[in-house]
Amino acid sequence: MMDRLSFRLVVAALALGVLMSTGAYAQQPLKIGLILPMTGPFASTGRQVTAAVKLYIAEHGDVVAGRKIEVLLRDDTNAPETTKRFAQELVTNDHAEILTGFGLTPLAFAAAPIATAAKVPMIVMSAGTLVIPEKSPYILRTSFTLPQQSAPIAAWATKHGINKVFTLVTDYAPGIDAETTFNNVFKANGGQIVGEARVPAQNPDYAPFIQRAKDAKPDALFVFVPSGEGAAVMKQFAERGLAKAGIKLIGPGDVTDDDILDSMGDAAIGTITSHFYSAAHPSAENKAYVAAIEKANPGMRPNFMSVGGWDGMELIYEVLKKTNGSTDGDKFIAAAKGLSWVSPRGKVTIDPRTRDIIQDVYMREVKRVSGHLYNVEFDQVASVAPDGK
Ligand code: DHB
Repeated sequence: MMDRLSFRLVVAALALGVLMSTGAYAQQPLKIGLILPMTGPFASTGRQVTAAVKLYIAEHGDVVAGRKIEVLLRDDTNAPETTKRFAQELVTNDHAEILTGFGLTPLAFAAAPIATAAKVPMIVMSAGTLVIPEKSPYILRTSFTLPQQSAPIAAWATKHGINKVFTLVTDYAPGIDAETTFNNVFKANGGQIVGEARVPAQNPDYAPFIQRAKDAKPDALFVFVPSGEGAAVMKQFAERGLAKAGIKLIGPGDVTDDDILDSMGDAAIGTITSHFYSAAHPSAENKAYVAAIEKANPGMRPNFMSVGGWDGMELIYEVLKKTNGSTDGDKFIAAAKGLSWVSPRGKVTIDPRTRDIIQDVYMREVKRVSGHLYNVEFDQVASVAPDGK
């Protein structure tokens, strides 16, 4: 005869089995570790991404596939060792089942080994160096890559009378990606590079580099600087009279970042960039998005970092619907491959081969519209691969 205690244990085990098999275990909250620079020089990226994540949850509800979503926000202050420590603590102590955010490339690099060791899905919402998804089989990306954003402007330049270019990039991985891609495509189209500068990532002073660019007398200055730095470049471009000397400003759209574009003044007008997101993108989805972000955060205009956060949440929600709430690393990645949806930026697809994002890239010109500066789209390259090819 079974004693009372054993009987109780068997009942408990059976009950647990029923719970597990019906998926009711999934009633446990699903914790998402969101790691971003919320303070320091790249705080605008943290602010933009968290506003998008909050809006996504407010509009779609905080329960998906029977699981209550809980976001645990951590401020890494743009220090890679802090990103790594938070990623480790979130997974081990807080039992976070997904890691996301990653405002800059060194921060994404720092967290990748944790995702690999824990087999936890890691969704990169912001950083843009091409090789990031190769750093862990559990990485997916909803932001962009610099080769993807730099190839279209290189192809456009030679077709529009720009034959000599000086390149200026921030001296770290995404800057090198931008420079390399621009050089390759521009030269293949018959263009000539008349000088190049790599500006230190820490406390940059753009003045001497922009003076060197002016002295080289190019048709255009190609610039990549990370989000938040564009205004400082624009100030030097104006003060040193490059526009008056007939030099055009071109690049991927980081330099005319919507977060700060309107504060740059008339010096920014006429800047031509190729990029995946403009707050002025004229779709119904984007108009609703810009209005909703502004309503929830008075005075805020969403920038390209914002849509990386929005689409990161869309990816998480759509994958969870497919996996019935499971975050098992291998199942999650398999379910993400090939997913496609319409974002405020246009159509996006998770490339099944690279786990990276395929998206349309737009040609834009800075113009004043109803008194405010915007990147106004005038052409489009459809479905650009992560490597820009
Ligand atoms: C990265 C950061 C940025 O702010 C940006 O505009 C592009 C790339 C990065 O570190 O990957």
